[in-house]
Amino acid sequence: MKIIIANDYEDMSRKAANYLSAQVIMKPDAVLGLATGETPIGAYKQLVEWYNKGDIDFSQTSTINLDEYKGLTGDHKQSYRYFMDTNLFDLINIKKSNTYLPNGMAEDEEAECARYEGIMKQLGNIDMQLLGIGLNGHIGFNEPGESFEKTTHCVQLTQSTIDANQRLFDEGEAVPEKAFTMGIKSIMQSKHILLIANGEKKAQIIRDAFFGPVTPKVPASILQLHNNVTVIVDKEAGKLI
Ligand code: GLP
Repeated sequence: MKIIIANDYEDMSRKAANYLSAQVIMKPDAVLGLATGETPIGAYKQLVEWYNKGDIDFSQTSTINLDEYKGLTGDHKQSYRYFMDTNLFDLINIKKSNTYLPNGMAEDEEAECARYEGIMKQLGNIDMQLLGIGLNGHIGFNEPGESFEKTTHCVQLTQSTIDANQRLFDEGEAVPEKAFTMGIKSIMQSKHILLIANGEKKAQIIRDAFFGPVTPKVPASILQLHNNVTVIVDKEAGKLI
């Protein structure tokens, strides 16, 4: 595992965007696994900037996202589809039909999970998977548990995740309690994993995840067993390591 301590959020974002863009430049039809949350916004901004300068071409690239809230339509402002469209996909030349997220409106949870697994099988292993990390160590929406979840599933979000994500919803608007998420097994099958984190509030979990025991109680700790992981943190998130 390679750990890079960046100076600040901007530096972390630029370094992450460097990895992602190098992947697409080296392999134009790469499959990128993408993440939502506040952390990757800067990296996406940087990619859009380089795209606008003519430095990257996404016309052959495919993307598959980690997760989506259950019960939100793709045009709901807090849905992850809306996030991806507005922060990246609508701003670059990727074909929308090559961008995949779980369908938050699917009624049949099992059928939706099976459909998403099918898409992953068709795409082949993810070349580069970008990850953020939740305060409780979740990756995607793989919440702490008794065992590592394997494939795409529908999860009951923990209260700490619901509370942490409340800040992004309008006042009085409830955060969905369930979400579809790619499983740990699919994440672990990615060829290269890039995890980014910033800010003091992530310092403890970065230490627990990468310098503590590998345990389902800290889902990100499983990444210690992957042979190609790059962790990029800013100074604050890296201050306990
Ligand atoms: C959400 C997402 C995760 C993300 C995490 C951290 O719950 N499902 O994929 O990594 O929150 O979010 P942030 O980057 O806003 O701290």
